[in-house]
Amino acid sequence: MKKIAVLVSGGGTNLQALLDAQSRGEIVNGEITAVISSTPDAYALERARNAGVPGHVLARRDYPSAQAMTLALVDKLKDLSIDLVVMAGFMTIVTGELFAAYENAVINIHPALIPSFCGKGAYGLHVHEQALACGVKVSGATVHFVTEECDSGPIILQKAVDVLPDDTPEVLQRRIMEQCEWKLLPQAVSLFCQDRLAVDGRMVRILPQGQPPAALTGGFK
Ligand code: GRF
Repeated sequence: MKKIAVLVSGGGTNLQALLDAQSRGEIVNGEITAVISSTPDAYALERARNAGVPGHVLARRDYPSAQAMTLALVDKLKDLSIDLVVMAGFMTIVTGELFAAYENAVINIHPALIPSFCGKGAYGLHVHEQALACGVKVSGATVHFVTEECDSGPIILQKAVDVLPDDTPEVLQRRIMEQCEWKLLPQAVSLFCQDRLAVDGRMVRILPQGQPPAALTGGFK
């Protein structure tokens, strides 16, 4: 059983989707054993408490640098024997030490179809403002592995929704959460926990159920 830590900063609706999926038995071979928040008053911590999952706070302001905070985060994850780190609305910048310690084991959800509307400044409602300003007809969400380069890690799953003529950023955000994010993230986490994600460069192959992980078969080329 893989141990999962979910990193949060705010409302935690994606955390809730994971907790709900877990209670329905949909996170196969994985268990959320920790929620780590960058803000002490995040509502996500309340969600963790309600689900009986231990919550931890790791605030950037308690450390002299992003690197010092990252090292403390890695220590905590190792202490808790975490196998998979899920960033679900985690708003604090982390440095490369996290990805070195957890190579291809840090997952993020982004509320757009990467490589569109991502990178610097593309967070929260800004993502949807950018999509509407661009006049795109579809947008969606992306679950990807996190690497040092912002929003550029290997893509695991994507799902699209229509952008409608009268959409506001708030309306589009909600549609993408409901129809994409809250479904994709639990699916990706479950696939990871079953060793069904084989990463080759920027490409992620989803292995059929029951197939040994690529590492055991010498890759999938
Ligand atoms: C989500 O839109 C997610 O895609 C982005 O941050 C937001 C977090 O929302 N990375 P919540 O805290 O899960 O409600």
